[in-house]
Amino acid sequence: MEVLVTVNKNSVISEVDKRIFGSFIEHMGRAIYSGIYEPEHPSANQEGFRGDVIELVKELQVPVVRYPGGNFVSAYNWEDGIGPKAQRPTRLDLAWHSSESNQIGIHEFANWAETVGSEMMLAVNLGSRGLSDARNFLEYVNHPQGSYWSDLRRKNGREQPWGVKTWCLGNEMDGPWQIGQKTADEYGRIAYETAKAMRAFDRNLELVVCGSSSPDMPTFPEWEKTVLEHTYDAVDYISLHMYFKNHESNTARFLAQSLRMERYIDTVASTINYVKAKKYSDKQIYISFDEWNVWYHSEEQDKKILSGQEGWPHAPAILEDIYNFEDALLVACLINSFIRKSDIVKIACLAQLVNVIAPIMTEEGGAAWRQTIFHPFKLASLHARGNALQLDIHSPCYAVEWASDVPYIDMSAVYNEEEKTLNLFIVNRHESEHISLRTEFQQFQNLHVSAHQTLSGHDLQSCNSSQFPDRIRPDKGEAPVIDNQQIEISVAPLSYHFIQL
Ligand code: AHR
Repeated sequence: MEVLVTVNKNSVISEVDKRIFGSFIEHMGRAIYSGIYEPEHPSANQEGFRGDVIELVKELQVPVVRYPGGNFVSAYNWEDGIGPKAQRPTRLDLAWHSSESNQIGIHEFANWAETVGSEMMLAVNLGSRGLSDARNFLEYVNHPQGSYWSDLRRKNGREQPWGVKTWCLGNEMDGPWQIGQKTADEYGRIAYETAKAMRAFDRNLELVVCGSSSPDMPTFPEWEKTVLEHTYDAVDYISLHMYFKNHESNTARFLAQSLRMERYIDTVASTINYVKAKKYSDKQIYISFDEWNVWYHSEEQDKKILSGQEGWPHAPAILEDIYNFEDALLVACLINSFIRKSDIVKIACLAQLVNVIAPIMTEEGGAAWRQTIFHPFKLASLHARGNALQLDIHSPCYAVEWASDVPYIDMSAVYNEEEKTLNLFIVNRHESEHISLRTEFQQFQNLHVSAHQTLSGHDLQSCNSSQFPDRIRPDKGEAPVIDNQQIEISVAPLSYHFIQL
């Protein structure tokens, strides 16, 4: 089987916003407690944050981390997490049927985010609370001094405001599972009024309004239309969330889901344009795809805790999906989709970062290690910085229910003008055939291959673990030779490649 691709340096889709390599940490499961924070751990720093986890997060170069939820935020009192730790209340977290000790709050999380080199993207509670708390939280976080909340922050040990730019107006407000679920009109109104109040404080904030929780919601995409009709003038982004499953162990179908995600993005982009046209607006709203990942491996084992049969445990091990090689291939395809859609998707958050559906796992008191999905995320996060290029791909395709044309070769390309590097990210979805991939380069000068890393030849079910942390990790691939502005490589079935020229 042969595939021909043409890459032209001048065919630019958009500059990739580095925030598409964002992530997410929610107060749930072991994301915080024994994930990023474990004072008794041998690697813990003075604040109790795990040093081994800090190093792994730094390795991923995550530019932005969404916090503190997720479903958790919809019944969260942010004030519970400030002031002396010994006086902070333990609360029942209704979203995850757990206890929350509030030993980590905004001060601690902000310090951690600074240590790992990430900006915070904060969510306000529009479920059980509303405008007033959002406005107080904003004042606490961003006002220099001389007001009640800013002076309380200073009293609590943080002189300078954090200056958080991006704020989410609630979370998944369309979902029946959400505390304080709303209709599109109810949510549109409260989101608009909250945005207006937050902008009255600082008109330069970037505000994210909730879109649907998934493209399978019965109210999708009517929800987007209604919510944007209310909020178009007051917000900057609309959020999309999507999780991917493979209960039926159908690899071809599983790996084709990135096209379902692209269709979801296209539908929301069209809805944005529809409302924009209806309002005769010049303003462009972009997409914040602020939750995405594979999530299904842990579903069965979580049922007991989530149904309340275990009471209200603190930091229970929930949503601890152990990712296999197949998941890493889909994650690579999904990232390719974000790169190809970089003209409209400006923020994307891998959900989540540590222990909870995460690229990084920890054992309490023990090791931290990289899951399989860590690797394609890291390679793209480090190297997909620059201009996303429109590729001309001629690949044989296969069909699934939602697409008749799933290309066997999934590919994206990013040209980094500063470093003068062209970065190619390639997945072969074919389950049995090697594909001879010929790539022709146009408008480039002095190209030579400087790196080729692959994930290839593994059993699809293979996973990493604390005992075998490097079972799945990139291997050095053979460097293809450039001949007549072309390279040709044989792409093994079900494999991933990063090539830098
Ligand atoms: O990431 C796990 C959960 O998935 C989040 O809390 C929620 O927003 C989504 O349903």
